[in-house]
Amino acid sequence: MDRTLASILAREQRAYLARRRGAWGGHLEAARAFLGQGLKEAQGPALVLGAGSGLEVPWALAPPGTVGWDADPWSRILTFLRHRRWAPWVFQDLTGGMEALRATALRTARQPWSGRVRVTRAASRRLAGLLGSLDPAAGSLRAWIAEHRPATILSANVMGQFGVLAQRAVEEAFRGARPWNDEEDPLDAALRAWTARAVAAFLEVLAESGADLWLLHDRGVLFGEAPFRLGPLAEPWTAQLEADLPLEAEDPLCGVDVVGAFRGRSVEGHQRWVWPVAPGQVHVMEALRIRPAAMVPGRVPGA
Ligand SMILES: C[S@@+](CC[C@H](N)C(=O)[O-])C[C@H]1O[C@@H](n2cnc3c(N)ncnc32)[C@H](O)[C@@H]1O
Repeated sequence: MDRTLASILAREQRAYLARRRGAWGGHLEAARAFLGQGLKEAQGPALVLGAGSGLEVPWALAPPGTVGWDADPWSRILTFLRHRRWAPWVFQDLTGGMEALRATALRTARQPWSGRVRVTRAASRRLAGLLGSLDPAAGSLRAWIAEHRPATILSANVMGQFGVLAQRAVEEAFRGARPWNDEEDPLDAALRAWTARAVAAFLEVLAESGADLWLLHDRGVLFGEAPFRLGPLAEPWTAQLEADLPLEAEDPLCGVDVVGAFRGRSVEGHQRWVWPVAPGQVHVMEALRIRPAAMVPGRVPGA
């Protein structure tokens, strides 16, 4: 991953770790229990995607040789400081498409003759048009899995970050300005479509990996102070929200149906919980385990 993108990730991670964590206890307990179970059941080294600083990952339970994957250049050392574990690590972009996205945004944002940034409607619309031709296909992840064949993969709260990083990369190309206005803006729609393709490709690679999968991610984000409860598990996730006032909900996975990406596979332990990340920002977290077809209890492989 190029240095600018890596430093954006490092900045995001610093901001994440600097937040007041007083209300995070329930989330951290649930996340560590879920990911910990995945590590305990792993037969051989696992692969931990979005390993970060290990706040949610109980590395003490990880089998020897377990690999962390996170493009934040500080993630491995922060994991070492937190867990005293110097794990093998991959620092590449999981989407495989961030550098092309950034290069396209830079080309569009700068005047070719002067190199000056132009935060104009025309530049924003041009970028919206170009984003449609980009294909974040998770190529590095696909290649790594084909070579190393991990039997267990944990996706540790990373999928919901693909769209955030894409937005930051575009803002950075426009020198910190946000070149789109609202949800009606074509650039906002194009970024959401790019994110949906990145999430779908990531899930496709996981589905084809043949590994036992433990997926933890932001299923939704709610903004504002309106109180709400989570009702019984329902699809889509918004059907689970119980509130007396209208809620402002955002889908960080941009419409991708996670369970639908694993049709015919056994989904277990499907759970959702609420994580109050900051005042006025609550995440609905989702955890699910997807066994490889050959592992489904009672199933004859190949039948
Ligand atoms: C919400 S944090 C997860 C925290 C982590 N599970 C922990 O226990 O500390 C998301 C992580 O995903 C990483 N990340 C986000 N987008 C990425 C990408 N495209 N490629 C690789 N890593 C990425 C970030 O650097 C960050 O550490």
